[in-house]
Amino acid sequence: MKVLVAGGAGYIGSHTCKALAEAGHTPVVYDNLHSGHEWAVKWGAFERGDLNDAATLAATLKRHRPEAVVNFAGLIDVGQSSRDPTLYYRHNVGSVITLLETMRAHDVGSIVFSSSCAVYGVPARVPIGEDTAQAPINPYGRSKLMAEMMLRDACAAHGLAAVALRYFNASGADAAGELGEEHDPETHLIPLVLQAAAGLRPGISVFGSDYDTPDGTCIRDYIHVTDLATAHLAALSACTPGKFAAFNLGTGKGASIKEVITHARAITGKKIAVTSAPRRAGDPPRLVADASLAATGLNWRPVHSDPENIIRTAWRWMSEHRSRAST
Ligand SMILES: NC(=O)c1ccc[n+]([C@@H]2O[C@H](COP(=O)([O-])OP(=O)(O)OC[C@H]3O[C@@H](n4cnc5c(N)ncnc54)[C@H](O)[C@@H]3O)[C@@H](O)[C@H]2O)c1
Repeated sequence: MKVLVAGGAGYIGSHTCKALAEAGHTPVVYDNLHSGHEWAVKWGAFERGDLNDAATLAATLKRHRPEAVVNFAGLIDVGQSSRDPTLYYRHNVGSVITLLETMRAHDVGSIVFSSSCAVYGVPARVPIGEDTAQAPINPYGRSKLMAEMMLRDACAAHGLAAVALRYFNASGADAAGELGEEHDPETHLIPLVLQAAAGLRPGISVFGSDYDTPDGTCIRDYIHVTDLATAHLAALSACTPGKFAAFNLGTGKGASIKEVITHARAITGKKIAVTSAPRRAGDPPRLVADASLAATGLNWRPVHSDPENIIRTAWRWMSEHRSRAST
């Protein structure tokens, strides 16, 4: 199957392109390189373009004639979304309008969309099932919810086939060391901890040590990027005309910030200085997925996501990629 991968030069998108190619599909990356990297486009063609640019997108669909779209393209910094909400609505919501209209004009009937556990906000109960109330608490989460609503409406109105995948905390790197996470600025815990281990930052701030969790620090559900990539293949197969479906992607377990730091110290053998900082507004104590619907509906289960493997692959990527970059 030929698949247009919007945002395919980014972290999760590039790993998914590799998985698509390995499964015999043909990815075509469409990316404006806002935060993606041309070096990460190794499987299939690359078309540089913005999802808001209808003319370039239409020309790309006409040239490559994909059967489906996987859309990773968007802005991902929750803090920035609160400071500049319209930027997020333009890039995470407006771009999806352009995408859906252009897909319809070019008879592309299936889409898999990168959603987020941020659509749940501060959930009333954990683990979080897909039936949990969607009540996002920041513009980033709201932009994902709005995009999901548009997909649902387009399925009902035009027979679109759409699957939204609500990722928990994407982490880790390709086992072969070909790809990994490189965000600037970096806001995700594991790369920040590993940057501290590598001496690239003085240490790590832990925001809140008095939560109602076993060690007092927040618990998050870390899911390996290769497991996320595999879920996109399953979601493409699950696309059904006229139907919108949403699945949580997580492990159902979760690790605390202190546990992540302990694993990182053991795996890297480095000292990691920790500073205690006050709680941040809007940080729930525990965000853990109930991913049983993905197990039954997509026949998907995470197999790469134990915390040690996540940190080991991320550390290998950081060590090797940095030494390559400096040569
Ligand atoms: N990383 C996570 O933990 C996580 C968790 C939940 C959801 N998500 C969602 O998954 C998706 C991918 O996340 P990621 O971590 O790989 O991010 P990323 O920043 O590495 O990748 C996003 C890609 O989209 C491209 N892009 C952005 N805006 C674009 C536009 N208007 N037109 C064309 N290309 C554009 C960027 O250049 C980049 O290559 C995002 O939509 C994000 O919201 C990520």
